[in-house]
Amino acid sequence: MFSLPQNPYNLQKGHIRLTIQDYANQELLYNHFMQPALQSALHQLELPPGSVGLDAGCGPGGVLLLLDKRLHATGHIWGSDNSPTLLAIAREQVRQHGLTERVSLFCADFGDPFPLPDNSLDWVWTADVLTSIGEKRGFSSEDVMRDMARIVKPGGQVAVFLGNRLGAVYLPGYAHIENSLATAANLNFRKRDQLHASFENENVLGWMRAASLAQLHISAHIAQYQAPLHPDIIRYIQRYIFEAEYGCTPELKAYAHGIGLTEEEWQVWLDISDPQSPNYLLTRDDYYCVRFGILATGRVING
Ligand SMILES: C[S@@+](CC[C@H](N)C(=O)[O-])C[C@H]1O[C@@H](n2cnc3c(N)ncnc32)[C@H](O)[C@@H]1O
Repeated sequence: MFSLPQNPYNLQKGHIRLTIQDYANQELLYNHFMQPALQSALHQLELPPGSVGLDAGCGPGGVLLLLDKRLHATGHIWGSDNSPTLLAIAREQVRQHGLTERVSLFCADFGDPFPLPDNSLDWVWTADVLTSIGEKRGFSSEDVMRDMARIVKPGGQVAVFLGNRLGAVYLPGYAHIENSLATAANLNFRKRDQLHASFENENVLGWMRAASLAQLHISAHIAQYQAPLHPDIIRYIQRYIFEAEYGCTPELKAYAHGIGLTEEEWQVWLDISDPQSPNYLLTRDDYYCVRFGILATGRVING
């Protein structure tokens, strides 16, 4: 259902040098990979047919398409982001899927109140934008949550989806290597001060409490695949996990060694992550992978 980008990704192994189009391609492919988890999360929400809601921080728009499907092509969806370039890509997705009548996009920064009246929406959805270090992006997650509560009608829902990164299984049979690489990648992200490493274990219920939301609820939603993998799933794991997150940079290797990965295990990792190797993991007939996202929901109460 997504328009998956086919153009070559100009990412050097282990070095993240993203143009905004690369970033959009990555997000859309990630949405595709996480589609089972996203659909499960959306299914759990109360999104009545004909309702009106907002995807806050919609990026290139992958989830807008799923939200429209969830609403059975009724109602109206607003999408907002602070990147005009990503919104232009989202607009193109919306146009290509014939949703221009039901989806409207606007530019807005989480640092400012949403340009929408009080009590004007039935629901708000936001995925992988709010973080415990939101101030680095110019907002406080609690303040954003309060403003989301302001624009939702009493009885309506606010939903936060967090695509958990550390809890994934991408290297079945190689638990120690995977744990070491995931921890090393996280240390690497933190050193480079990149935010998305923190989309996990967020205090999302604390933000919701601060916004006086009621009936708070947490659930986990899974994306799982087993051999034979669809080429798009191989592409996602190879490019964005094996090459980008667990990529073979000297920094990552040093971190991995520092936390106990041996040189022999590092060589095994190089072998199983190389598409040219006879031992390549992603095309083995016993391969599987699992990743989950966390959905938090809260309800706006009267007064
Ligand atoms: C990881 S992407 C998630 C995109 C989309 N929600 C999804 O699930 O595919 C994070 C998005 O947050 C947007 N963003 C980052 N900081 C923001 C801010 N201060 N205000 C509004 N949007 C912001 C980015 O432009 C990007 O589109």
